[in-house]
Amino acid sequence: MGARVGLIGAGIMGADHARILSSGIGGAVLAAVHDADSARARQVADACGGTQLYDDPQALIADAGIDAVLVASPDETHAALVLACIAQGKPVLVEKPLAATLDECRAIVAAETRGGRRLVQVGYMRRFDPGYRMMKAALAEGRLGPPLFLHCVHRNAVAPHWLTNELVIANSATHEIDIARYLLGEEFASVSVISPRASSRAPTRQPQLIVLETASGVVVDVEAFVDAQYGYDVRAELVCENGTVALAPNPPLATRLAGQDSHALHADWRGRFADAYRDQIGAWLVSLGTDRPAGSSAWDGYAASVTADAALQAWRTRSRTTVQLDTMPEFYRNA
Ligand SMILES: NC(=O)c1ccc[n+]([C@@H]2O[C@H](COP(=O)([O-])OP(=O)(O)OC[C@H]3O[C@@H](n4cnc5c(N)ncnc54)[C@H](O)[C@@H]3O)[C@@H](O)[C@H]2O)c1
Repeated sequence: MGARVGLIGAGIMGADHARILSSGIGGAVLAAVHDADSARARQVADACGGTQLYDDPQALIADAGIDAVLVASPDETHAALVLACIAQGKPVLVEKPLAATLDECRAIVAAETRGGRRLVQVGYMRRFDPGYRMMKAALAEGRLGPPLFLHCVHRNAVAPHWLTNELVIANSATHEIDIARYLLGEEFASVSVISPRASSRAPTRQPQLIVLETASGVVVDVEAFVDAQYGYDVRAELVCENGTVALAPNPPLATRLAGQDSHALHADWRGRFADAYRDQIGAWLVSLGTDRPAGSSAWDGYAASVTADAALQAWRTRSRTTVQLDTMPEFYRNA
C-alpha cells in the first residue's frame, strides 16, 4: 500500500498539495488534515474524499498510522512542526522557507544531523520544473562552457498587502536563490540590492534588483517585481562562455491571431509550476524510507535563508554584503 500522508495547513498551497496527493500519485493516500481553521480543514478533506481531521498537529505527527507529513502552514509554524517530525522519525516535506528565522533553520539542521537520518525535504519545487532541470543538464553536458551570468525575472501580477519590501526578498526571491544554487552547484559569496521607485500601482512596495556573486565569480541577477499587473512571469537565462540557455515560455503555446503573435501567461505560480509541484511530491513519495529526500535538503533550506538574510542586510544598508554560511555537516555532503 502507498504512503499515508498527513497534511498540516490547508490554505492555497495545502489545498493544491491535497489535490495532488489524492490524485493517486505514487499510490499515496491523504490520510489526515489539520488546519488552525477547522472549517478550512474540513473543506479540503471533503474535496479529497473525506480524510481524518485532527485538531492538534502534534497528534497528527505522532499518529503511528501516518507515514509522512506535508507542512503547508505559515512560515512561522514550520520549525516546531519539522522538529516534531524529526523527533518522531517521520519524513516531512515542508513548504519553503525551511523556517522563519536562521536560528530555527540551524536548530532543524542540528536536530536532523543528531538523529542521523535525512528526513526533511524543503518545497523549493523549481528543482522539479522540467525547464530548470533541462538547463542544469545542458550545463553539465559541457558544450556551453563555464557559466558567467544567470539572469532571472520573477514577476507576479498582483500581491497581497502584507508582502512587504523585505518579504519580496525573503519570501519571493528565495526561489531564485535556491534554484541558482541548484543550477550552479555552489554557494553565494556576496549580495547587493538596488531598488527602483515604487510603481504607482503599488506605492508602498518597491521592485527589487538583487545581484548575487558566487564563490567562483558567477553573477546572478534577480528582478523581483510582484506588482507587474499583466500576469505571472518567471524567466531565466544562463549565459556561459560558449553560448546561452534560457527557459522557454510556459505554457508552451504560441497563438497567431488577428495580426498578433502571442503567448498566454499563467495567473500565478500554481499553474506555471503545476508539473514541478506534482513531480516534487512524486519524488518525495518515492524517496520515503530511503533517508534520501529528493529535493532541497534542510541544509539547502538553511543556505537559502542565510543568503536571503544577507540580501535583506544589503537592502537595509545599501551595501554589498557577505554571505556567511556555517560549515556544512558531513551528513549533508552529496545530499
Ligand atoms: N512553493 C511555493 O511556490 C509557495 C507558494 C506560496 C506559498 N508557499 C509557502 O506555503 C506556505 C503556506 O502558504 P499559503 O500561500 O498556502 O498560505 P495560506 O494563508 O493560503 O494558507 C495557510 C493555511 O495555514 C493555516 N494555519 C495558520 N496557522 C496555522 C497553524 N498554526 N497550524 C496549522 N495551520 C495554520 C491557515 O488557516 C491557512 O489555511 C507558506 O510557508 C508559504 O511561504 C510556497
